[in-house]
Amino acid sequence: MSLVKSYAVWNNKGGVGKSTITFHVASRYAEINPEKKVLVIDLCPQSNASMMLLGGGTNGEDAVLGLCTHATPKTVVGYLSTVISGGSGAALPNPFDYLVDVNSHNPNMPENLFLLCGDGNLEPMSPAITQAAGAPALTPTMRPWLWVHQIFRRFIESVVAQDGSEWLVLIDTNPSFAIYTELAMSAADRLVTPVNADDSSRVAANAMFILLHGQVPPHPIYGSWTFAAQAHNHGLSVPKIHVIVGNRLTQNMGPATAFEALSDASAATLFNAYRAHPTYFTGRAAAAQTVDEFKRTYSVPLRDFNTAGIVAAHKGVPLSRLEGGHHQVHGSRVQINNVRVDECLVAVDALVATLT
Ligand SMILES: Nc1ncnc2c1ncn2[C@@H]1O[C@H](COP(=O)(O)OP(=O)(O)OP(=O)(O)O)[C@@H](O)[C@H]1O
Ligand SMILES: [Mg+2]
Repeated sequence: MSLVKSYAVWNNKGGVGKSTITFHVASRYAEINPEKKVLVIDLCPQSNASMMLLGGGTNGEDAVLGLCTHATPKTVVGYLSTVISGGSGAALPNPFDYLVDVNSHNPNMPENLFLLCGDGNLEPMSPAITQAAGAPALTPTMRPWLWVHQIFRRFIESVVAQDGSEWLVLIDTNPSFAIYTELAMSAADRLVTPVNADDSSRVAANAMFILLHGQVPPHPIYGSWTFAAQAHNHGLSVPKIHVIVGNRLTQNMGPATAFEALSDASAATLFNAYRAHPTYFTGRAAAAQTVDEFKRTYSVPLRDFNTAGIVAAHKGVPLSRLEGGHHQVHGSRVQINNVRVDECLVAVDALVATLT
């Protein structure tokens, strides 16, 4: 049995809850599996998941900024620059020199949770990553594209080689399909895909399949140099959808309870993709035959977290440690009801339970 389960939390649509889900799942999984270890790799330059994990609000922002401004940043950028500047023949740096023990920054977090912190410089750095991936192969065995794309896969492997615990790896991603998102796709075996109950989620679901697996027939001009084509040519497997999270966000929807977490349109699109290409999804004991079976097997609804979610993210506190009553958020007094917190926790636990 592999010691690692790796999941990228990805949908190439913004604001669907990727970072929030990364934060809650990482903290909860670590809490209920104290004998295992959890690694979050933040491959989004916005670094929202890192900020929440490191204390939320301005504490979290300051902690991320502190790590980004080390002489060698203790972040995804520090690791990437060291590896790329060393070149493909160089020994890998020690991954633990770059990992942050989350509990030492934020005592609310479990002790078995580690972070390779996000960094805003990932965005300005991306042309350098692209250039390294596109470098000419100077010997027959060199494959610069593959070597660069697998940097975080090797990072995970070297973490596990040093610490033989069982690891859950969660990679937070950016909605753009930038080079660093390609690196995230190349590092994870599976996907947790949050979707909202609106039409744009259905469109985004189709776009995800094209980005990962390519278009049929391929585009006559750029079809040969897409990530999907290059991954195929280099024998790189792309991650499979493991669970679709129907996120009941209220912000664009009005009262979310009026809608199914996963809209019929999105479910139909995803089910059609599943029927045409079952290997785009992780396998189950029995194949889903109907859209309802598909929803039951592959999707989990996430309720609207409301004030509980806002306070948890603002204070960097896992839901299980969130106390009812009044909290100060951005100078305002907000009220949290314990019953609501428990309901949110049940929803997160249902999602955590799928990460087997
Ligand atoms: N289940 C939920 N209930 C209530 N609010 C939520 C829920 N999930 C996410 N949100 C809120 O929705 C907003 C967007 O969430 P988040 O930042 O996690 O999305 P994202 O997909 O990471 O965005 P981006 O694409 O910009 O990285 C945040 O304000 C977050 O607090
Ligand atoms: Mg995000």
